[in-house]
Amino acid sequence: MLKVHAQSREELQASLKAGLGEGLVLTDAAEMVRYCRDWHGDVSSSAVAVIRPRNVEDVAATVRLCAELGLAIVPQGGNTGLVLGGVPDAPDHQIVLSLERMNAIRAIDTDDFSAVVEAGCILSEFKDAVQEKGMFFPLSLGAQGSCRIGGNVSTNAGGINVLRYGMTRELVLGLEVVLADGTIWNGLSTLRKDNRGIDLKQLFIGAEGTLGIITAVSVKLYPNPEHVETALLGLNSLDDAIKLYRRARRECCDLMSAFEFMPPVAFTLAMEAIPDLKMPIAGDYAAYVLMEISGSGLVDTSDLMSRFLEGVMEDGLVLDGVIASSRAQAQSLWMFREGMNEGQALRGAHMRTDISVPLSRLAEFVAEAEAELAKDLPECLAVSYGHVGDGNVHLNVLPPNGSTREERDHYIYKAKVIVNAVLDRYAGSISAEHGIGRLKRGDFESRLGPVQREMIERLKAAFDPELRMNPGCQLALQAAS
Ligand code: FAD
Ligand code: LAC
Ligand code: ZN
Repeated sequence: MLKVHAQSREELQASLKAGLGEGLVLTDAAEMVRYCRDWHGDVSSSAVAVIRPRNVEDVAATVRLCAELGLAIVPQGGNTGLVLGGVPDAPDHQIVLSLERMNAIRAIDTDDFSAVVEAGCILSEFKDAVQEKGMFFPLSLGAQGSCRIGGNVSTNAGGINVLRYGMTRELVLGLEVVLADGTIWNGLSTLRKDNRGIDLKQLFIGAEGTLGIITAVSVKLYPNPEHVETALLGLNSLDDAIKLYRRARRECCDLMSAFEFMPPVAFTLAMEAIPDLKMPIAGDYAAYVLMEISGSGLVDTSDLMSRFLEGVMEDGLVLDGVIASSRAQAQSLWMFREGMNEGQALRGAHMRTDISVPLSRLAEFVAEAEAELAKDLPECLAVSYGHVGDGNVHLNVLPPNGSTREERDHYIYKAKVIVNAVLDRYAGSISAEHGIGRLKRGDFESRLGPVQREMIERLKAAFDPELRMNPGCQLALQAAS
């Protein structure tokens, strides 16, 4: 267990302020609220303090002082995580370490196609700065106006461009990390190829803050795609959507950059969240795909999209579609995809998943899980959508409107049992992109093989023997005595 010293909350707060300076430490309960609740507002907690360092030395000093005071550290970026990884759960023993002030872009190197950015930089601000230099940072997700690079790396975030550019892991070239004893590791290389021994940065990517605190990241950049074709397509089924994806991969070279699946209810949900939105496509279809082809320089993406759609419509795979004729129109099509998360949040607490199964079995999996949900929870609404090209679906279950919190918890529990049982039959993953956090810890632990668990425990013992780095996130561990 974490060693806790017998100091009151007030004494701990005073020690933090004395050791780090008043300017770094928030202790006012009202000021701490936003750091201690999750994006959906499902969980509200508290902490001894919120520490907001300005540089890597501040982070190291915080880590050392927390060790002296017996406090554990919950690192936080934009707090958009969906699995409670960045939300404290032991208010008397934890501080939140917010990286939000460490938001500088240290370098953008257009000759090297690389950049170095601090962990607290908001993703969309980094993307914009890069784009001003004619470059592109491909990580794209609905939360990009709030999430921060350090959070993206710590969750190995996915998003809509994974099928072409890979998960965050594939975009990271190097890291700067503060370890659990306060040591600073500067691993901010921008080398593309480097096989000198074990690739240590990989340990921290997707670790959700359990092995150290990421303070800066060096990343790959790409040429800015000047030509982007966005199409919203109506189809007969998810099965047809997956056939369409396979065909697009073959016929559109590697230029397909997004392929998102949406059920009809996506539009209703998005319009509930963004009232100005109007239905963008005439006719009702059982399934929709939002597809993007992009390229730069001499590539003619417009011709490619037209010829591709001509073929698939002739074959009856796509029934109807609209191609955006401007960036603004493309953005309004994307608002349906992004707004559907907001729309679900507005309907109150619900079950969220981020499942993956092999692409070849995805349609079958969704049909089976939805059929079981319809049989056992007919009053709930199942919403399956997402990055189907990656074999990744968000199969969410919304309790009926007007349900009490207690009823919601009951529906969420039952829905999870049903969906996970089907998922296990398909040998799928309970977390394709959001991570484990605190929300999925039980589901993760119960599926963890003994060898895998042992390796994680050895890593934890080597990097964080006193369990100060985000304890309770991913696994419930006991410190070796
Ligand atoms: P936080 O929520 O602050 O933290 C996430 C985890 O990382 C926590 O465990 C935290 O302790 C740890 N952490 C944060 N910063 C650091 C650091 N510097 N060092 C060490 N540990 C750290 N996710 C996807 O993958 N794909 C999507 O398409 C997607 N869409 C989303 C859409 C919406 C509307 C929302 C609300 C969320 C979405 N997410 C998605 C989830 C979320 O945005 C991502 O997980 C994101 O990467 C989290 O970044 P953050 O800065 O908000 O991290
Ligand atoms: C999305 C989030 C929920 O894909 O991952 O919208
Ligand atoms: Zn997603």
